[in-house]
Amino acid sequence: MKAINILITGANGQLGHEMRNALNGDQRFNATYTDVAGDGIAMLDITDEAAVEQVVTANAITLIVNCVAYTAVDAAEDDEATAARLNVEAVGVLARVARRHGIKMVHVSTDYVFDGKGCIPYTEDMPVNPQSAYGRTKLDGERRLLDTLGDQAIILRTAWLYSPYGKNFVKTMLTLGQSKPALKVVFDQVGSPTCARDLARAIVTAITASEWHPGIYHYSNEGVISWYDFAIAIHRMAGITGCDVQPCHSDEFPAKAHRPAYSVLDKTKFKSTFGVTVPYWQDSLRETLLTLGFPTNKND
Ligand SMILES: NC(=O)c1ccc[n+]([C@@H]2O[C@H](COP(=O)([O-])OP(=O)(O)OC[C@H]3O[C@@H](n4cnc5c(N)ncnc54)[C@H](OP(=O)(O)O)[C@@H]3O)[C@@H](O)[C@H]2O)c1
Repeated sequence: MKAINILITGANGQLGHEMRNALNGDQRFNATYTDVAGDGIAMLDITDEAAVEQVVTANAITLIVNCVAYTAVDAAEDDEATAARLNVEAVGVLARVARRHGIKMVHVSTDYVFDGKGCIPYTEDMPVNPQSAYGRTKLDGERRLLDTLGDQAIILRTAWLYSPYGKNFVKTMLTLGQSKPALKVVFDQVGSPTCARDLARAIVTAITASEWHPGIYHYSNEGVISWYDFAIAIHRMAGITGCDVQPCHSDEFPAKAHRPAYSVLDKTKFKSTFGVTVPYWQDSLRETLLTLGFPTNKND
């Protein structure tokens, strides 16, 4: 079978990095990565339609996985225009180029499209109501993509993403746990962590399915916890004992952007469409800690 010429944008981000790991050595793909110095196209401005067109043409791309996003949730409150440039305009650029070339596209979105006031896991057809600039731009990006590319698009909404790369909650808790005697972490926001490696594998599952199944899907790891529970688990699994982690309310840590109190995504549609199981969050956390050099105890 002929290899799929795939373009991974933002290949240096958390998900982008894991897409590289997932595709590494996979003969089914011939991958072009952007934003990776020395291993692909060093820089591609995905708001520049001519530049995107050139890369797509030169590499005979037939599938795009967009891992670029403006993910600075608080900064977006002060600069929604910049967030929209990446989360909406750039998605429109990719989608227009994709439409012209008959290319399929996978895009990633967020639990922040919901208001977080629910108490049962969000399915894909539940009403959206973003409460932050980031959430609004990500929702607009979803709509831009679907309006432009229709059934050639797949959108995976995810939440609480972490990996060994870049900045994320797991790495922050490891650093703070080793440097601070005590720490407060909110217990009134609940959700499901997502290991970026699992999300990348889910994307590979979706794009290698025998049929193309377009539309919106939810994907996170299995299980539901608060950030406080997550912090405790990270420290225990990593063998960090010198930091006293205490629960607190969100109003003790006022942030610019509103965070959803309840952001559990229902993954039933993804699992039934693609016939896969989803790893439990503790198993994926354990693997990530091992990658980061923290030997973990299987009984944690
Ligand atoms: N992180 C989360 O907790 C979370 C939760 C829910 C959904 N998501 C969604 O999941 C997806 C992946 O998130 P992530 O955590 O992997 O994001 P990330 O680590 O912040 O990576 C984003 C990527 O976008 C690139 N980028 C940023 N500004 C750019 C620009 N002006 N031009 C070109 N590239 C630019 C970054 O490049 P540099 O490396 O050069 O900065 C990076 O490669 C995103 O769609 C995000 O909205 C994330």
